[in-house]
Amino acid sequence: MNSKMRNYEEFYNESIDFPESFWAAQADQIEWYKKPSVILSKDENDYPLWYNDGELNICYLALDKHIQDGFGEQTAIIYDSPVTQVVQKYSYNEVKTEVAKLAGGMLSLGLNIGDTAVIYMPMIPQAAFAMLACARIGVTHSVVFGGFAPHELAIRIDDCKPKLILTASSGIEIDRLIAYKPLVDEAIELASHKPQRVVVFNRKLGARIPFKIYDVDYDALVYGSEETPCIAVNATHPLYVLYTSGTTGKPKGIVRDTGGYATALKFSMQYIYGVQQDEVFWAASDMGWVVGHSYIIYGPLINRNTTVIFEGKPIKTPDASTFWRVISEHKVRTMFTAPTAIRAIKKEDPTGEFIKQYDLSCLRTQFLAGERCDIATLEWYNQHIPAPAIDHWWQTESGWPMISDMMGLDYFPVKPGSAGKAVSGYDIRIFGENGEELGANQEGFVVIKLPLPPGFMMDLWNDNRRFKEGYLERFPGYYFSGDGGFKDDHNYIFITGRVDDVINIAGHRLSTAEMEEIVSSHHSVAECAVVGINDNLKGQVPLALVVIKHGEEIEHFQLQHEVVHLVRDQIGAVASLKDVVIVDRLPKTRSGKILRKLIRNIADGVSFQMPSTIDNEDIVDEIKIVLEYSKIGIFRQE
Ligand code: COA
Ligand code: AMP
Repeated sequence: MNSKMRNYEEFYNESIDFPESFWAAQADQIEWYKKPSVILSKDENDYPLWYNDGELNICYLALDKHIQDGFGEQTAIIYDSPVTQVVQKYSYNEVKTEVAKLAGGMLSLGLNIGDTAVIYMPMIPQAAFAMLACARIGVTHSVVFGGFAPHELAIRIDDCKPKLILTASSGIEIDRLIAYKPLVDEAIELASHKPQRVVVFNRKLGARIPFKIYDVDYDALVYGSEETPCIAVNATHPLYVLYTSGTTGKPKGIVRDTGGYATALKFSMQYIYGVQQDEVFWAASDMGWVVGHSYIIYGPLINRNTTVIFEGKPIKTPDASTFWRVISEHKVRTMFTAPTAIRAIKKEDPTGEFIKQYDLSCLRTQFLAGERCDIATLEWYNQHIPAPAIDHWWQTESGWPMISDMMGLDYFPVKPGSAGKAVSGYDIRIFGENGEELGANQEGFVVIKLPLPPGFMMDLWNDNRRFKEGYLERFPGYYFSGDGGFKDDHNYIFITGRVDDVINIAGHRLSTAEMEEIVSSHHSVAECAVVGINDNLKGQVPLALVVIKHGEEIEHFQLQHEVVHLVRDQIGAVASLKDVVIVDRLPKTRSGKILRKLIRNIADGVSFQMPSTIDNEDIVDEIKIVLEYSKIGIFRQE
């Protein structure tokens, strides 16, 4: 530990007691075209607005500034793609030239500040260029994860109404070529809103690229365009809309500001991740998730790090050694991944034989998030890898970590099972059902006292009502996270899981309510329940219980097959719905509410008290028998 490092407790208390002066000082760490004179104000809903009259450009902070400071030849991006066997490095100069030309091309296509653009791309540098080009000219981007099916893409197109879509000819899933362009065309067909143009980056991997009148070739656009400078945007200008799963079938468009986000990311790189400028930082996630936005692109680039864009998986590309190769080959100092990735590696290489083949001395810290890190995974990691693994907690909504060990301060010892302590700016409390604050070691709802710090979501796109209802009204004056948890006597926070219909499958956030809507749309289904059950590899997987319509004649296996494919076609393979069981009835309360938690408990083998409101107690045994017969949940055999 560096003796000059600030004390966690002091720093934290300062951020909570004096938020304005604390975040004014942090805003000084980035460059503004116009420095904010107002640090913290409120919108009409009494919700915090940060740096309201400041002006800046996040693409300038990520690229141009470093070039002006003389670091143009430093590597900005390492593209490491085991699936195409390519490793390519781009300097800050190269990235800036490409981005400025692409932005110029976008202007020539009629895009302007205030417009929106959807980016639907695999893990290639052009996805980063597209995001940065949007930011350069004030176009709000909405990146859609490439694993989502056309139906999901169409929902997002209709909600954020892009003038332009940027895509690529194809992605690669391990060894499978996935043609993206036909998926985009299908989504445009399905959507009511029609974007004017689709820019297609041709990877020349052999995928079919059906031509449409709205197509523009990415290379031709960049080649034929002039570099365009960054424009100044207001601090509250929406940098992006990122859709995430909620408790209904409709995804929520999280709106992120520019000034608060840039400040928070710079802060987090320094104080949470403890990263020095020019070090290599690798977040093994996807640009379609918030981790990708914050810690593949904007965070490391604002901090003048070298970021790694990795197109592969922890296993099978080609094997469980990939992560260790990337770390040692590129001298990664700080890494970020999901516990599920470590579990996948552990399963393939339980004794860590691959690990022994690489020099991992460059790695200082391994951060884990996306789901709770189980103790067995943490212990396995620490037993085999010389760098400490740090669990930390955050959400798409926050944009940056809320609970963590802060590696840029005099950090405290990790407590297995806990995500750490509250990060500066986050006044985290545990509440009971009626909004009463709970004491140490009592489990309840995880809430955060307003004002939330810079970088936190500003709103839901086109849906301020849902924003207020979902996050702010349940406990007035507090943000409701949707997670349950408790604090111990020493303020370590333990997150115990979602308290709503959101589940985490292999670090991917999905909605069981949305899956239920889709399963129910099958013509033979009378009603259904979808719940998340424990899974050794993916953390959680969905289980669907289906009741067939009276008089419907359909083979069970056929219905199961059709339901699986329906969800795959509508959401995408990432939904990972494989377990579908047919039951005669669902467990319900006397007022007809489905007892989903009871189903989860039965499948997970958790002991439970029979809910006093249950209408049909005998159903518990029926469900057990069906699950045992189908080898699901605790009855699963590896
Ligand atoms: N495009 C198309 N399909 C995709 C996709 C993409 N971008 N991403 C995933 N899929 C598909 C997969 O091919 C798979 O299809 P299949 O059912 O036909 O095999 C399905 O979606 C499920 O994928 P995945 O959840 O990745 O499961 P997996 O069994 O292939 O791999 C892990 C398991 C644990 C290795 C993998 O999930 C993983 O690396 N997880 C880490 C995720 C992560 O880092 N999340 C970020 C959180 S910070
Ligand atoms: P996402 O918005 O996709 O980042 O998912 C956020 C959700 O993932 C949170 O609300 C939690 O339920 C879960 N999550 C993320 N990180 C952690 C963690 N470190 N421990 C427990 N749950 C986590």
